[in-house]
Amino acid sequence: MITVPDESGIVPFLRAGPPPDRTRHEGWKRWQDQRDKFIPAPRLSLEEYAALSPRRRALHDLHRTATHVNLGLLETPMSAKVTKLMRGRLRNNALNFEPGTRDGLMVSGGGYLGKTETACDAAATFEALWRDLHRQLLPGPIPGTRDLFVPVAYCRTPVRATPKGLCAAILDFYAAPHPKTLHGMVRQVADSIRVHHTTALLLDDVTRLRLHREDDQDTLDLIRELMDLNVTLVLIGVDIPNSGLLRGGRPDPRTGQWILPPVKPGQTFNPGAATQTERRFDLVDLDPFDYDSPKGIKAWLDHLAGIEDRLRLLQARPGMLTEGAMPEYLFRRTGGIVGLLRRLIEDGCTEAIDSQAEELTVDLLAGIPIRLGNLADRDPTAGEIPEIPEDIAVPAPAPRPRRKGRNTVFDDRGERPAADA
Ligand SMILES: Nc1ncnc2c1ncn2[C@@H]1O[C@H](COP(=O)(O)OP(=O)(O)OP(=O)(O)O)[C@@H](O)[C@H]1O
Ligand SMILES: [Mg+2]
Repeated sequence: MITVPDESGIVPFLRAGPPPDRTRHEGWKRWQDQRDKFIPAPRLSLEEYAALSPRRRALHDLHRTATHVNLGLLETPMSAKVTKLMRGRLRNNALNFEPGTRDGLMVSGGGYLGKTETACDAAATFEALWRDLHRQLLPGPIPGTRDLFVPVAYCRTPVRATPKGLCAAILDFYAAPHPKTLHGMVRQVADSIRVHHTTALLLDDVTRLRLHREDDQDTLDLIRELMDLNVTLVLIGVDIPNSGLLRGGRPDPRTGQWILPPVKPGQTFNPGAATQTERRFDLVDLDPFDYDSPKGIKAWLDHLAGIEDRLRLLQARPGMLTEGAMPEYLFRRTGGIVGLLRRLIEDGCTEAIDSQAEELTVDLLAGIPIRLGNLADRDPTAGEIPEIPEDIAVPAPAPRPRRKGRNTVFDDRGERPAADA
């Protein structure tokens, strides 16, 4: 994407085509290349905004909207914990040149808590580092051919997945063929991981795997098998400890890691798996914000301040989200869940621009329901839809300092014809 303003001073902010599909190798690469490249709308004062031509004002409004829907990730104490553990584990495992099982990682938490984005972000940062290192060691791909080096593979488990469905999702990432039998598929997965030099395999929404049917043992064995492929397995899902995925496993009181016992002979589709040793996983929880301790409140306020800094509302006063009744109101509306907060703020900003209020107030937000968008792609039975707090009382308004004079920026003075820009 071009990021230089053209001669009119407008930064191009639109991207052509649909957003990249991260569950395909090309899409992951494209997403990785363009993340962090979005340029937010410039901050304009009311006067500067008023001085724009109608066309430039409309463009600026579009750019502001794009800014509000592309707020980007903010580091929270919870995401920092996940990121630190994940980057450390990916790096150490990748630098371990001994054959054998790698310790895995599980990222667990409720819906909309940022599991996917936090894990993808950490994996992408690791990949950038790893690619840099390899550029120094190995020549790049031959121009015109496919890049065979795929350090990170990311897949989403389909709703109501079976072990074969999960294998198919992994193979689709590499655009590899689907053999007919599970055994064949596992071998194809192993081949793909080997030829593409994959060091990290992320399995998102892994708690969608059904674990109360005859497929159970196959599923658990598959997870164990994947760990033997010399990759770091990162399992991401809702409340993993209670999902059945760790059945037969136990936490190690010494290290806090989860230990999965070896498979017994005769219980698995792969006779080779029976001789393997136990597998170890670090389990890290992504929690919501809490509002019960000074530390929790401070983290929430910091997060709100980070969001506020990225908003482009013309009448926003400093402390719009962090002062008065607002922080607690936002907490009560969202239960401290980042994804819900994000939705509320995004829709609130749209309303603030449309209604020309140009600032977020409790009253404005009170009229905005939190909508979760397309739910067809979620599995309610896997706990993926969080409960949204309802009927949150609007606190009594605190006396506000009076503004000087009336703001006339939206008044149509009919000075310029619409087509002057
Ligand atoms: N640290 C963060 N800072 C700002 N926004 C965040 C952060 N983490 C997540 N979000 C936003 O919250 C929303 C939900 O995040 P994400 O999809 O990663 O959640 P999830 O836990 O994977 O949920 P799901 O149950 O849908 O899989 C996204 O819009 C994401 O951009
Ligand atoms: Mg997710």
